[in-house]
Amino acid sequence: MQAISVQSAQGHYDIHVGDALLPSVGAVIAQKIPKARVAVLVVDQAVEQTWAREVFASLAAAGLRVVTLVVHASEANKSIAQVEKVWSCMLAERVQRGDVLCAMGGGIVGDMAAFAASTYMRGIATVMIPTTLLAMVDAAIGGKSAVNLPMPSAALDAGVNSGGAKNSPQSLPTNLPTNLPTNLPTNLPTNLPTNLPTNLPTNLANNLASNLAKNMAGTICAPAWVASDVRTLTTLSAREFRSGLAECVKHALLADESMLSWLETHREGLRAMDPARLVELVHRSASVKAAIVSRDEHEQGERAHLNLGHTFAHAIESLLHGQVHHGEAVSVGLVAMAAASQAAGWWPDADTFALSKRLTDLGLPIKVPAAVDRAQLKNAMKLDKKGQSGAIRLVLLKGLGRPGVLDAASDHVINAGLDAIGA
Ligand SMILES: NC(=O)c1ccc[n+]([C@@H]2O[C@H](COP(=O)([O-])OP(=O)(O)OC[C@H]3O[C@@H](n4cnc5c(N)ncnc54)[C@H](O)[C@@H]3O)[C@@H](O)[C@H]2O)c1
Ligand SMILES: [Zn+2]
Repeated sequence: MQAISVQSAQGHYDIHVGDALLPSVGAVIAQKIPKARVAVLVVDQAVEQTWAREVFASLAAAGLRVVTLVVHASEANKSIAQVEKVWSCMLAERVQRGDVLCAMGGGIVGDMAAFAASTYMRGIATVMIPTTLLAMVDAAIGGKSAVNLPMPSAALDAGVNSGGAKNSPQSLPTNLPTNLPTNLPTNLPTNLPTNLPTNLPTNLANNLASNLAKNMAGTICAPAWVASDVRTLTTLSAREFRSGLAECVKHALLADESMLSWLETHREGLRAMDPARLVELVHRSASVKAAIVSRDEHEQGERAHLNLGHTFAHAIESLLHGQVHHGEAVSVGLVAMAAASQAAGWWPDADTFALSKRLTDLGLPIKVPAAVDRAQLKNAMKLDKKGQSGAIRLVLLKGLGRPGVLDAASDHVINAGLDAIGA
């Protein structure tokens, strides 16, 4: 088991990363939150019948009364309506200030459940139990909770949006099929296309998400503990796993060359879901985010560096709405970022080719489909919440491990990024 300590305004908390943590969750909670009598287990439907059973048994064995709430993970469910369900349930079960909520699942369930916990009775202890790679290395760290808000029609008309997958109504696809394949193979295939997919089916939840202002209501409230058991990753689809890997590459670029080459060296072990490699991957990657949020919990400066590649990525997500996973867009966005960093004169020896190869070796895309329109992409970048008054703000690198913010990127810089990804 590996441990990472995170500093926050409310004191420090630990992230534990291991391959058999779930059976000890109850005992650790009894020790860390000794006043707790009730444990509210808000759990992602995808892991309810599998990993959640271990957590349930362990909480009960520690003498806690367990109240379980199952949530289907969709952006539409990352809502105040779901939060209200959690609040009502806690009220009905007489959950007290000293009790604990365990948020178990991917980033969607984690963000929503943490919001409910951080606001119920002005905040009860939260334990994050992330079960996707993205949640382990990103969403469960740093204390940000959030729900999406429905877009008022006026804002939709003006094309206003914020964070994550943003859309102007004109960009919405109209005739997407509704049958999304869910059970993709766990092992990573070896020969993957480098372009983002253009015509993947989507589902109703994704369509609904198009009318949502993402992460518009939320709190920053440190969890009491984060328990990342990498065994849970073995039931994750290969595509979701790869999406998480893109955030790991982002963290490696924010850290140093050694982490990038580690990813390359251990590619096969990761592909085979070797538990020791997975523990090391999550530990290394989570450490990068933990260090940044420890220094800048409330995003006064440095925390913004975690948006590396994300202005490009959010624009791609908004144009390929529902057809592309966040991590896939981040992968392409990182390539654009490297080329833009070079064009800005920040990182003269940026090797976009080498970065692209590393990403493709991990099964990640590096180019947008030919149908993606450059003007629309630029427009979407201007709408990104990181942009100020129409100017496009980019997080770029001055070298590996040396990020900075370019407040108003020139056309030359943006075009260099878009050239690199075939836009
Ligand atoms: N709070 C933060 O700082 C922060 C940071 C990054 C992202 N986020 C948020 O995280 C969300 C994305 O999180 P995500 O990528 O984890 O997506 P997700 O929560 O949608 O999970 C992806 C899919 O995997 C399923 N799943 C989860 N664990 C599984 C497992 N072990 N086995 C099989 N299936 C499993 C889920 O049900 C879902 O279908 C977004 O809403 C984003 O805004 C928050
Ligand atoms: Zn991201």
